[in-house]
Amino acid sequence: KSVTEVDLSNIPPGGMHTVAWQGKPVFVLHRTEAEIRKAQSSPGGLAPEEDGRRVQKPEWLVVVGVCTHLGCVPNHNEDGWLCACHGSMYDTSGRVVRGPAPKNLEVPAYSFEGENKIIIG
Ligand code: FES
Repeated sequence: KSVTEVDLSNIPPGGMHTVAWQGKPVFVLHRTEAEIRKAQSSPGGLAPEEDGRRVQKPEWLVVVGVCTHLGCVPNHNEDGWLCACHGSMYDTSGRVVRGPAPKNLEVPAYSFEGENKIIIG
């Protein structure tokens, strides 16, 4: 199966890299303290799920960058993501907070290799 390696050392806090994994974009977000606080203080929106179940380390959110409505690629902003196609919004945990998207952004299988590298897939 195909995996994607991501070097985390050049993603500063607040920064996000989009990488390709199995033909899909994956967002790797280095969350700031404020983004972590927002994520942890909310149960989520339309599809509640604890932030702690969606991340392996609070600083790093890894989600498939495909809107769960009809598959557009949402745009990152300070509150999370906005999908320009039909206006769905996701929070700093990638959880849907406004439809029409029905589900949270998917968390792919991944693992850390040391402090500064993840392997997706
Ligand atoms: Fe994202 Fe429709 S594809 S809101």
